[in-house]
Amino acid sequence: MTQQFQKLRALTGMKDTLPGESAQWEALEALVREWLASYGYRNMRTPVLEHTQLFARGIGEVTDIVEKEMYSFTDSLNGDKLTMRPEFTAGMVRATIEHNLLYDRPHRVYAMGPVFRHERPQRGRYRQFHQIDVEALGLPGPDVDAELIVMLARLWKKLGLTDIRLELNSLGQAEERAAHRAALIEHLEAHKDVLDEEAQRRMYTNPLRVLDTKNPAMQEMANAAPRLFDFLGEESRAHFQGVCDRLDDAGIAYTLNPRLVRGLDYYNLTVFEWVTDRLGAQGTVCGGGRYDGLIELMGGKPSPAVGFAIGVERLLDLCSQDGEQPAIPECQVYMVHQGEAAQRKASLLAEQLRDAGLQVIVHAGSSGFKSQFKRADASGAQAAVILGDDELQKEQASVKWLRAADGAEQQQSVEFSELASVLSARI
Ligand code: HAM
Repeated sequence: MTQQFQKLRALTGMKDTLPGESAQWEALEALVREWLASYGYRNMRTPVLEHTQLFARGIGEVTDIVEKEMYSFTDSLNGDKLTMRPEFTAGMVRATIEHNLLYDRPHRVYAMGPVFRHERPQRGRYRQFHQIDVEALGLPGPDVDAELIVMLARLWKKLGLTDIRLELNSLGQAEERAAHRAALIEHLEAHKDVLDEEAQRRMYTNPLRVLDTKNPAMQEMANAAPRLFDFLGEESRAHFQGVCDRLDDAGIAYTLNPRLVRGLDYYNLTVFEWVTDRLGAQGTVCGGGRYDGLIELMGGKPSPAVGFAIGVERLLDLCSQDGEQPAIPECQVYMVHQGEAAQRKASLLAEQLRDAGLQVIVHAGSSGFKSQFKRADASGAQAAVILGDDELQKEQASVKWLRAADGAEQQQSVEFSELASVLSARI
């Protein structure tokens, strides 16, 4: 009796990137590495798994991420509470402290990879998604905040993106936010009759988030709420002005959005998001800001820091709207053969072609010429190299140019010893 195995599927909200799509990812990653290197950023890699406490303390206990979106579990071997990273920043800061990176100089670092949030999946919102995360550690000034934003504008330009706009705000310092928070709670208490259930639940734990409401009945109350900007002291205002001046210098347009609060608690002073209308409901492609208190909160020596993360799926979605991506061939040369001796010779010749820098697939197994040519054509290769008894005897391969322009030579015989140079010359 044969057993019928059930097909397994990927988890909801987690996507496969298939060979036909991965070229777009790899091209973006290569461009991003070059772009980051041009500003002196270096790669840093931290584990996907960390202690749950790292994120609870870093991101904040009463944020959506920590309250309901983390993939957490207890290690069955030792009872440790662990979490799959929902973002990079907390782990990058932990590593910076653990390895004492800031003892003599600041660091410009980046990471790329998967992060995990248990959200309701929809277009642009996944449970495993990817971020390009960039952090400038140990640098206090508005010059760095502005440089990060200018840097992002350069990336959008390199990618040919135009419909993407910058929203900017300042969250000031902790004492300023505390004064604002007290005034805000007072305002919410005075309008308790219009607050929905969630707002009532949050008004004392996270009153700022109450203003993020989509509930139309609460809009008037939200619009009339005291603004954090009015509680900022001279230094915070000067920092913000410093960022704005530099963006003006660079000719970068921005909108001041006093309601921009971000979903993570570690921010102070500058916060920003790059947003587009071309991605439906999930239009934020990049978010970031300054987090001068986090390193100390994580047990390090107080040091300023600022950074951002780009959502890679959203960015690629946006890029692919500007036309079909060209199909990337599987190889440049496809080797077709008949008979065992020819197959073995094909494998040896393929190694020589690879020595010359060519990308080569040798047809695996044995099948008729016709089906091998079909595979050669589907591979996107420029040339098929054909080996049969005749060719072996003459020590010559037949080269068939699969994508020759009209009038160009379609087929030729080439000495084995000349094969690499003849192919390289035309590919
Ligand atoms: P974030 O705003 O939570 O910030 O995430 C950054 C970006 O990740 C978002 O702007 C969005 O493009 C993408 N993103 C977020 N959630 C999802 C999702 N469920 N599916 C697909 N894409 C998503 C941070 O993570 C901070 N650590 C950024 C930062 C670095 N701040 C300072 N340094």
